[in-house]
Amino acid sequence: MALSRRHFIQAAAAIGASAAWGGAVRASRVRWRERRDLFPEGVASGDPDSSSVILWTRRPFASGERQLLTVEVAEDERFHRVVAHAPAPVSQAADWTARVLVGGLKPARTYWYRFTDSDGNGSRVGRTITAPADDDPRPVNFAFVSCQSVNEGKLNAYRRMIYEDQRAPAAEQLGFVLHLGDFIYEVVEYPDEIKTRYDRIVYEVCRIPDGGVTGKLHYPLTVEGYRAVYKGYLADPDLQDARARWPFVSMWDNHEFSWQGWQSVQQAGGTPRPGQTIKVAANQAWFEYIPARVTAPSGKLDTFGTVPVKNVAIDKWDENGLGQEPNNIAAINSLIAYRALRYGRHLDLILTDQHSYRSPDPFSDESLNKLGDWGAFNGWFPDDLQQVLDGGRAFNGGHPPAELVFGDSRIPNPQKGAPPQTILGADQKAWFKGQLKRATATWKIWGCSLGCLDARADPQNLPTGFTKPWPAGFANLGGGDHSTAWIERAEIYDLVRDEKISGFAIVSGDRHSFWAGYAATQLPPGKFEPVGLSFVGASLASPGAMESFEHRPANKFRMRELYLVDRPGAAKPDWTYNMLLRHGVRSCLEYARSFSLEKARAVRNPDVAPHLEFVDMGAHGYAKVRLSGDAMRTEFVCIPRPVTRSDRPDGGPLRYRVAHTARLWRPGERPRLATEVLEGDPGLAI
Ligand SMILES: [Fe+2]
Repeated sequence: MALSRRHFIQAAAAIGASAAWGGAVRASRVRWRERRDLFPEGVASGDPDSSSVILWTRRPFASGERQLLTVEVAEDERFHRVVAHAPAPVSQAADWTARVLVGGLKPARTYWYRFTDSDGNGSRVGRTITAPADDDPRPVNFAFVSCQSVNEGKLNAYRRMIYEDQRAPAAEQLGFVLHLGDFIYEVVEYPDEIKTRYDRIVYEVCRIPDGGVTGKLHYPLTVEGYRAVYKGYLADPDLQDARARWPFVSMWDNHEFSWQGWQSVQQAGGTPRPGQTIKVAANQAWFEYIPARVTAPSGKLDTFGTVPVKNVAIDKWDENGLGQEPNNIAAINSLIAYRALRYGRHLDLILTDQHSYRSPDPFSDESLNKLGDWGAFNGWFPDDLQQVLDGGRAFNGGHPPAELVFGDSRIPNPQKGAPPQTILGADQKAWFKGQLKRATATWKIWGCSLGCLDARADPQNLPTGFTKPWPAGFANLGGGDHSTAWIERAEIYDLVRDEKISGFAIVSGDRHSFWAGYAATQLPPGKFEPVGLSFVGASLASPGAMESFEHRPANKFRMRELYLVDRPGAAKPDWTYNMLLRHGVRSCLEYARSFSLEKARAVRNPDVAPHLEFVDMGAHGYAKVRLSGDAMRTEFVCIPRPVTRSDRPDGGPLRYRVAHTARLWRPGERPRLATEVLEGDPGLAI
């Protein structure tokens, strides 16, 4: 016990925590009266390990700079068996948020916690769960989620998750929720300026003080602005209930800082601008509102501290695409969020940051518009040429082509002298590879906010005259995530293969759609040799691609049959886009003729996507993972478009529930998923 306490104090010191220690059991001596109105954002917990967890709340005071709350942790919901009791400072400097690391807890145990001010005003009671001990052989259950725009939707998915979890047998209840980003959208619409978008009602989130605006999108430029957005999001009752029920393990995606931003460059629909102070502000607000084991510049857990930076244009990049401008380096290093968690015998979870260190976009050179009329193909781009752009000077073993050729057009290769694209950046990638090599749990799960599964189509198989001719080869429909970062992805996947790492799987978000498939360095005409599994989770609430397609006028929609078809008698179009990504153009065109799944699948192109088992570009909901010593089971729980809040206790009906199960494979063996529809109808997703 003494040793583990010392270890705990060392661990707490690393993140600057004023820590509470679990000890002898006794009844609460705090006079607590629940006053949820005084704790308007509720409570939360984060990053559990087998003996400790971070607890969070916010208690704003009208005056003064600093106050002390009391936090209590108990083995029971009524606080008759309190095991830890500690002061929890809140201050104006941290927007009255509190973070306390509580240690000395037992592994794989459920605890209840609450905060109380000096007048006895109390927060709601939260529930949290510690991680199992490293050698605990019991299966691990968690959910992964992302993209919760409450500006344009409601969080019925959390309501469903809570409802099912409360009714699940103890051994199947979720241990934690992995949040893969877009916890907030920094771009906020105001309902008095825009009432609806697509199928959605625009709901009030907040008003942003001192912000910027592009069109009807308002976005923060200061920490006050980001704080306003977090408070607006945390006003959602279903999000509050979810945070009060489970510990969250969180990683930001793009919108926690800036929609099209990268490193410290801010861009939200308008032109990019140097945003070092904005990146620091975003990091500060994330630190204040998301409890996580990260080290703030202050070296303390209660306040973020200050990072003096100026907004200066970046004009020098190193060989990994890292902007060398000193304020940029200071801003992106003001909070390092990549980290790893161990969870029982079966899970090593490695989380990476996909935005702070990534290199400049290799796919946006203006000269590419001279190569082809990409508008005629809705932005599709030749897969092989995109790989050339990604690889830069490293393509083809350091021998990139001098020119890009498409049909009769040719342009000089604009990336010929550029370093290969990196999304992780050199330092984080080295850390990530080290974590992968050292991981000893049965399953090594990469929590990557961005999808890694290629999105391709085969326009070379379109009938003559359907559109402009496509000379040869596959088209790529993606860009911006790890599906088009081939060089970097290959480095990681080749490491998995060469180091004989088994049980490698990726869980991701960002795409507002469900995808299940395999992690593979190459697709046909290259050699398809999967080294692991790869999943993308749907958005909890944010609109996805199919919703936008449904709102595009049919007469202005090129190649519409490859996206949507109107089945006679159906209220809504069928989503052939799912079929396009899975099976290719011939299946879509056959389905548009016959509306027969069987006939459509009979003419599928097996080479377009051997890496995919399931794609639903119109899905919303969450994914639930169960890891055991011999299998990984990933369940997609899909709900209808969450336009309004369901008044049902279960969060409303399901569209479908689908399970993807893989037995653990031996190194060198091919992983295989078996997909089973458990309930509802996934349409053209399979
Ligand atoms: Fe999103």
